[in-house]
Amino acid sequence: MKKVFVSRPIFPDVIERLKQYFEVDAHDGPALPADKIAERLADKDGAFIAGDPVGAKAIEGAPNLKVVSNMAVGYNNFDMQAFNAHGVLGTNTPDVLNETTADFGWALMMATARRITESEHYLRAGKWQEWSYDAFTGSDIHGSTLGVIGMGRIGQALARRARGFNMRVIYHNRSRVAPEIETELNAEYASKEDLLKRADHVVLVVPYSRESHHTIGATELTLMKPSATLTNIARGGIVDDAALIDALRRGQIAAAGLDVFEGEPNFNRDFLTLTNVVLTPHIASASEATRRAMANLAADNLIAGLGEGPRAGNPPNPINPDVLKK
Ligand code: GLV
Repeated sequence: MKKVFVSRPIFPDVIERLKQYFEVDAHDGPALPADKIAERLADKDGAFIAGDPVGAKAIEGAPNLKVVSNMAVGYNNFDMQAFNAHGVLGTNTPDVLNETTADFGWALMMATARRITESEHYLRAGKWQEWSYDAFTGSDIHGSTLGVIGMGRIGQALARRARGFNMRVIYHNRSRVAPEIETELNAEYASKEDLLKRADHVVLVVPYSRESHHTIGATELTLMKPSATLTNIARGGIVDDAALIDALRRGQIAAAGLDVFEGEPNFNRDFLTLTNVVLTPHIASASEATRRAMANLAADNLIAGLGEGPRAGNPPNPINPDVLKK
């Protein structure tokens, strides 16, 4: 039987599925650092990974490794150059999380614009004594301009929701989306600078890469309206967190909603000193149904990638399909 490693506790029935095909070494405990993951991979044929780092050292130290399946759509935790060099297939879990993640982006944007958590903290602290005309006044979502940076599948799902709120949608992407999608979403392409100047609510949905590192930094924040909000449901590192903290402190933008952080879970604790942020622990895809769909899809990819099950040799979501041809 081939040997697989599972890097985090996951749904027990998904582990049972893997056990039908493989000898499973399932880690049960807090997240492992990169060197411990590498140790556990050394004698394995495959791995089920949930966002943990799999770098060149781990790949080089695991001569039998053929497939590493990520239970996430983003795969910046994988060193794809090393995967390709050693003929290791990487897989991810796109699509099944689009709607859930777009729902969450919307929730975070609305909570940020309407100061939901800030006002709840006030209530919980027993400070609510009387009504006031200007208590926690925020900015409207309906009728405002939504700026989506990253118009992939999740960005499109997010933009689709703007229709019900009668919003103008502008977007920036590496390349323009097809004209029929622009028409369907009533979305106008804009340069990043133009979008930042015009949008009332900016939402980031770009994958992390060297190119998207600090897409939003001090310079970009100066372009935004003082009344604008910034929501990041993409990845830590797309925003320069120190620059954002500075901008929020100085009121350069109104507020930010953040589900992802540089260095998470060890995020910049200065965020905790600010009232104009909504902070969540990387949970945009966390509905019960979607996490289950992601786990099963990651298992499908691993099983098929290692030549087992009904789709043997034809995993649904190869990141680097060329290695399958070799
Ligand atoms: C979550 O962040 C994912 O990439 O699926």
